[in-house]
Order: sequence, then structure tokens, then C-alpha cells
Amino acid sequence: MPDMNTSSQNTFLKSPSNVRMQAALTIAALLKGRSLATMLPQAESRLHEDEHPLLRELCYGTARHFFSLSLVRDRLLNKPLKAGEKNVQALLLIGLYQLLHTRISEHAILSETVNATHKLKIIWAKGLINAVLRSAQRKRDEISDWAGSRDEARYEHPQWLLNRLKAAWPNQWQALAEAGNLQGPMTLRVNTRQASRDDYLKQLLEGGIVAHACRFAEQGVQLEEATSVTALPGFYDGSVSVQDEAAQLSAVLLDAQPGERILDACAAPGGKSCHILEQTNDLTLWSLDVDSDRTTRIHDNLSRLNLTAHVITGDATQPATWWDNTPFDRILLDAPCSATGVIRRNPDIKLLRRNEDITQLAILQQQIIDQMWSLLKPGGTLLYATCSVMPEENSEQIKAFVERCNDAILEPLSPEYGIDTGYGILLLPQKKSHDGFFYCRLRKKTVIMQD
Ligand SMILES: C[S@@+](CC[C@H](N)C(=O)[O-])C[C@H]1O[C@@H](n2cnc3c(N)ncnc32)[C@H](O)[C@@H]1O
Repeated sequence: MPDMNTSSQNTFLKSPSNVRMQAALTIAALLKGRSLATMLPQAESRLHEDEHPLLRELCYGTARHFFSLSLVRDRLLNKPLKAGEKNVQALLLIGLYQLLHTRISEHAILSETVNATHKLKIIWAKGLINAVLRSAQRKRDEISDWAGSRDEARYEHPQWLLNRLKAAWPNQWQALAEAGNLQGPMTLRVNTRQASRDDYLKQLLEGGIVAHACRFAEQGVQLEEATSVTALPGFYDGSVSVQDEAAQLSAVLLDAQPGERILDACAAPGGKSCHILEQTNDLTLWSLDVDSDRTTRIHDNLSRLNLTAHVITGDATQPATWWDNTPFDRILLDAPCSATGVIRRNPDIKLLRRNEDITQLAILQQQIIDQMWSLLKPGGTLLYATCSVMPEENSEQIKAFVERCNDAILEPLSPEYGIDTGYGILLLPQKKSHDGFFYCRLRKKTVIMQD
């Protein structure tokens, strides 16, 4: 349970603020299908910087516990709310989240959540919100048992996703769902062009930040407690980047060599492109992404780290629109996916994704991998990666690719990282370390033997 006796909360208690209102508007937008990544920056722009941590806590926490909070809300209401009353629904969820999952004083929760009805112009709901929150206070002990009655509420995941996890991972699905409900650790990638990992660990310690070296990622450092990047020594000078340990394995497994021509096919915001460039000198790197807003972020990251790549906004399914017909030595395909391995970092996925998305994503991944394969030199390497735990997007995708393609060789990857699926390695999300990730490395034959 997070301790909300932080400076942000104190600021909030001292001065009348509209942080609950902004949180309610953000959650209401999420209920209408907008992501937190899109909505939170807008909400933050309307608040004082000191209030951003509380806003994030309210939004991420409410999304993380959405299924149990919705069950509690519905059982405490005398009659269901109209589907269109998204601001009321959102404010109730935020109020219940604070009562059931934070240490914010109950008096502050009640008064500030009810007061937000004025700011949201839903004064008619003031009595209703007050009554539901007071009822939750009285029934706190019973409420903790309610979630046990429904898997969705107990595991805080939609039923379709639980069904898929159970089918794919009959022995691990509960641990997977539970890992998805925790907050992921903050992990850094040390730019070893500037300092060794040991040196950077010392700098962190001197700054009062407790951290340890990651197990698999050679440049990885995991912090005991998340902190603002502004507190990290040398962040703005490119000494370090925020990147999960499993994601850091991309550059290692791609294994780019000096002088090579590399394509990072779905590159934004550029975390892996930057790592590839940090790791190997004298590369020609093309960083491609279909989303122009996101390619801007590749430029930002390259510039902070003082690195150079050829950044292109383009569609990987249509290379004819951007490729110069010179094949690549290596291609990293970090494919668009369900992100079911990183739910703990993006809990809104549980509300935004639909069952049918998995099949649609698998079709897109197939189109991209087929196109990318045609851009690879004979003898070249394609590293396929997703942050999904779904076999349709991972091992089944690769099995089908190898079966329809007569010049692909599956290369073995170290099984110490995770589960060897036979068509790549799956790292399941770990409660205390890395996210969920899938990797498969394919090599293109130099000579195709005729049957
Ligand atoms: C998993 S993210 C990539 C993360 C990135 N590799 C990193 O480490 O920072 C997947 C990316 O694929 C991009 N994408 C989706 N469809 C695409 C397409 N058809 N062509 C190129 N990029 C695409 C998305 O915009 C998104 O940025």
C-alpha cells in the first residue's frame, strides 16, 4: 500500500487543488477508450508540478485495481449508474481506490473527492459519492472478501485475458496476473561509453540512491525505489537511460558489429536504437517508426545521448515507400504487440485491449516480419522481439514464419533467460525484476538448397 504522506499530498492538503478533478477526467477518458499515456500529460499541464506524483498515483492505481474497484462500486450503489455518467463513475473509482489502497487520511479523501463534484459540475452526484464512500468505510472488512468471488476482481484482469493466460500458461497464469498487478521496478541502462556500471552504482550511492546490478543485462541497474530522472546523476548528459532489464537484452542479442548496416524496424521512442549505438561504434543505423509523433521522441533520445541515426517515419509493411534497396546486415523487429508482458507498467491495457486485438496484432506482425525478411542480406540476422506473453504473437508466429520461409534458420538463444518455447525464449514478468519479453533470432541462409 503506497504511503501518500508525501510532499505532494501535503501541498495538496495545504492548498485547494483540482488534482482529483484532473484524475477523474483522465479516468473518465480511459473509460471512453483513451490511454493514460495520451491523457496524463494533458492533465499534468493543468496542475502544479508538485501534484503530478499524486495525479499519477490516483490514475495508475485506479487503472491497476479497476476490476475490484468496479465490483465494490456496483455493490455499494443502490441502482447502477447510467453508462454515460463517466465522470461520476471515475470519481467514485478514484475515491474507492484511495480508501482501499492508500494511506491518505480518510477525512481528506472524503472531503476532497466530494468537493471535486463542484469542479466537475456534477453537484447532483455529491450525496451519492459521499454515501458510497462512507458505506465503503463502514464495510471495509467485508469488502476485502468480495473480490474473491469473481476472477476478474480477484486477479484484476478482464476475463478474456485470464482465459487466454490460463490456456497459454496453465501453471503460471496466476503468477503472471499477480506480477501484472504490481508496480514494475525502475531499471536503468548505464551508458558505458561514459562510465562503467560499477562506477555508476557508486555515483548513485553517493547521491543516496540504493541500487543493484541486474542479473542478465550487463549495463542494467535496478533501483530499490523509483525516483525522478532529475535525481539521477548525469541523466541530462546521457550517462544513463531508463529501460527495463528484459528490453536491454535486444542490443545484446542483435550483436551488431562495427561497419554494419542495421535497421531498427519499429523503433520509437528509440530506447533500443540508442542502446545499439551505445554498444557498437561505426554503425549505420536506420530507425523506422510509422508514428510521426513517436519518431520525434527518437530524435529527443538520440540528442540527449549524443548519438546519430537515420530516423524515418514510414510503414514497415510498405518498404517500397522508404527503403533505398540496400539490404541490411541485421534487423531488430520489436514488433507492435499486445504488451501483455508489461501490464504492470501500463495497467490501462487491461481496459483498452480486446480479445480480438490479439489476432489482429498477429496478422500485422506477420506482414511486418515478411517484409523485413526481404530487406535482409543473405547471412544476415533478424531479431524478433515482443513485450507480449501470448504464443500467437511469439512462438506460434515464428513457427509459422519458419514453415513458410525456406531460407530462415532459427538460432539458439541462452535458455538461462527464461522459457525456451522451441521457437524463441520467453521471459515471463518477474515480481522483483524484469518485464515480460520474447526474443527469437533468425539467420538468413546464404545459399538455398533446392529440393
Ligand atoms: C514496442 S514499440 C517499439 C519500442 C522501441 N523499439 C523502443 O525500444 O523504444 C512498437 C512500435 O511499433 C510501431 N509500429 C506499429 N506499426 C508499425 C508499422 N507498420 N511500421 C513501423 N512501425 C510500426 C509503433 O508506433 C511503436 O512505436
